[in-house]
Amino acid sequence: MSKSPLCVLTGASGGIGQAMAAALHDQGYRLLLVGRNELKLAQLSKSLGNQHSYITADLATIEGRDALVHKAQKLGGASVLINNAGVNQMASFDHQSAVDISKTLEMNLLVPMLLTQAFLAQLSQKDSATIVNVGSAFGSIGFPYYASYCASKFGLRGFTEALKRELSDKPIDVLYLAPRATDTQINGVLERAMNTALGNHMDSPELVAKQLVKQLNSRIARTVIGFPERFFAKLNGIFPSLVDNAISKKLVIMKQVMKQTNKGAQHEIL
Ligand SMILES: NC(=O)c1ccc[n+]([C@@H]2O[C@H](COP(=O)([O-])OP(=O)(O)OC[C@H]3O[C@@H](n4cnc5c(N)ncnc54)[C@H](OP(=O)(O)O)[C@@H]3O)[C@@H](O)[C@H]2O)c1
Repeated sequence: MSKSPLCVLTGASGGIGQAMAAALHDQGYRLLLVGRNELKLAQLSKSLGNQHSYITADLATIEGRDALVHKAQKLGGASVLINNAGVNQMASFDHQSAVDISKTLEMNLLVPMLLTQAFLAQLSQKDSATIVNVGSAFGSIGFPYYASYCASKFGLRGFTEALKRELSDKPIDVLYLAPRATDTQINGVLERAMNTALGNHMDSPELVAKQLVKQLNSRIARTVIGFPERFFAKLNGIFPSLVDNAISKKLVIMKQVMKQTNKGAQHEIL
């Protein structure tokens, strides 16, 4: 009997990653769960009946990425790669350190690109393979206090689209999933206060995982979760000045939240 397809899931120890792992488990995938927090990965693996593999790896290092690629190869090679690991730091741009700007671009853009490249040989061995890049609504809408994050996710969206078209004559699909605000630890006090002040809806990680499964099963190239976000992403692409105006009207509220909650960046990216 042939083995079920192997899915490499980065950011598996995080909020969205854990929900994705459970949903992919239910879909019958074999999982290689990736993160830095070994305890969380072990707990997740246990909650899924210890049927899956996991590896602790700092994906910002070449050693971490090599170890992951090697482990996946030993497990028979990946059929699905989900680039879900990511970082965020909401901050006024003038308060963000050079290190935090670099880390944001590294983890959200460079690492998914390098991992994708490193996995292409394995994915090419399969009759059908899929890469899913987890972006953000902020990968289509530039938003105040998310300049570095937006730059990284806009970049990831561009990378996804270009690679999808480059591989369109091969059996490797490249998909882009863009969640909106989701209830995970990536959102601290500041992000939550901002979402409340702006009336932004926060999804559950399980809803994002459900969208992932839907996308994988129906091969939808691009998914932006949530109606207003989907609408504004489209509008921003066609009439960006309308979105400029809508967002600048909210800047007063945003400045108040920034002032009340902190004066700059609230936490360093670890
Ligand atoms: N939550 C939201 O509001 C939201 C909205 C839109 C898009 N997203 C995107 O969804 C994805 C998942 O985010 P989340 O909300 O689940 O955040 P999260 O709970 O903070 O999880 C982030 C994950 O990234 C991993 N990670 C970070 N740096 C790493 C590194 N150097 N090496 C290896 N793994 C690393 C973390 O691993 P360890 O903890 O083990 O280090 C963790 O598993 C991200 O790409 C994020 O940008 C989230």
